[in-house]
Amino acid sequence: MDGHGHGDGARKLSIVLPTYNEHRNLREVVRRLAELLDAALPGGYELIVVDDNSPDETWALAAELTHEFQELRVMRRSERGLASAVLRGWQAARGEVLAVLHADLQHDPEVVLALWNEIERGADLAVASRHMAGGGVNEWALHRRLFSRGAQLLAMLTLPGALGRLSDPMSGFFMVRRHAIAENTMSPLGYKVLMEVLVRCHIGWIAEVPYVFRERVDGASKITGMVVIDFLRHVLRLRLDTLPVGRFLRFCAVGFSGVFVDMGLLYLFSDSHALGWGLTRSKLMAAECAIVNNFLWNDVWTFRDLAGDQTGFRAKLKRFAKFNVICTVGLALNVLLLNAQFNLLGMNRYLANAIAIVVVTLWNFWLNTHLSWRVAEGQNTGRRME
Ligand code: GDD
Ligand code: MN
Repeated sequence: MDGHGHGDGARKLSIVLPTYNEHRNLREVVRRLAELLDAALPGGYELIVVDDNSPDETWALAAELTHEFQELRVMRRSERGLASAVLRGWQAARGEVLAVLHADLQHDPEVVLALWNEIERGADLAVASRHMAGGGVNEWALHRRLFSRGAQLLAMLTLPGALGRLSDPMSGFFMVRRHAIAENTMSPLGYKVLMEVLVRCHIGWIAEVPYVFRERVDGASKITGMVVIDFLRHVLRLRLDTLPVGRFLRFCAVGFSGVFVDMGLLYLFSDSHALGWGLTRSKLMAAECAIVNNFLWNDVWTFRDLAGDQTGFRAKLKRFAKFNVICTVGLALNVLLLNAQFNLLGMNRYLANAIAIVVVTLWNFWLNTHLSWRVAEGQNTGRRME
């Protein structure tokens, strides 16, 4: 890092400007941002240019500009990569809120104020969107529109939970609270830093602001075939990294513990040497106790992270009620499947039972993940975390 910082004080807002061959655009971007922010956030912001050793010496121009613009800092790296440049800038940033804006004037600096407004209202993440009323793309050729939408669709289908929360998850123009992303390990690849933030971090309130993606006037886009390959690899990596394998194994272990509770209590309730109750009554009681056992372990262990977002006794009771219903329906499904395979397909009854157990376990896991422990998911967009 070139030592061009001015003072070490904390800032409200740090904006990273990733650059690669933006010599002809940088001065104008910096000038306009400084003008807007000197008025809106005097002394409370910083601009960080992260340049990947551009052949056109954008880094030298940036260093020069630091004399004219007090809040400008420059980093010059020997690696390449838009997403990694942005994260590198954020690591060096001193702001409570972190932002990224492309340094080619395609992202209108004015929109920064609208994004900042949303953050001040309490949003954890504010995204400039092309795909909402008031937003758009200037004069894009049909093939570019189709390509852009195709990429978005593919990513949305692969990562619906995280990316489906906003209209333009492919945007490269946004602001995020540092504390919302601070504890996460990011492994950036390619262009889409926002995907990394959406998929890997716990983001509560998301706000969107419309913007029109301007035509490039100077310089050239750095999008190449390699960027497309990196995009596909990135989507796949995010999907694999966030598959709930560990959670599923915990869920199975808890289910296994439930079998012992059920067996033990069935003995205690029904055996003639113990309580000697009727078999049906004993089984119902034992099964319900196993459900309670499983719920408690799942709540403090399997789904701990999700349960933590929904505190209070009432919320817990609600989770339990849902869990109970799902398990009961699961049991009915189990019996039904076993019967169908055994009676209709003439399958071996133990194989049929094994298949039924696997299917019902997956069913239980999926439903409980989405209904019992993740009730707040769909409402997150408007949820206030603080
Ligand atoms: N440091 C660094 N390193 N900066 C880079 C690199 C890099 O390897 N590659 C690009 N940049 C900088 C550019 O200098 C520019 O400031 C910004 O990142 C965006 O790069 P462009 O090459 O201009 O991208 P684009 O405008 O064609 O497309 C991007 O933005 C669109 C809208 O957000 C892509 O992300 C599109 O997919 C997206 O639709
Ligand atoms: Mn661009």
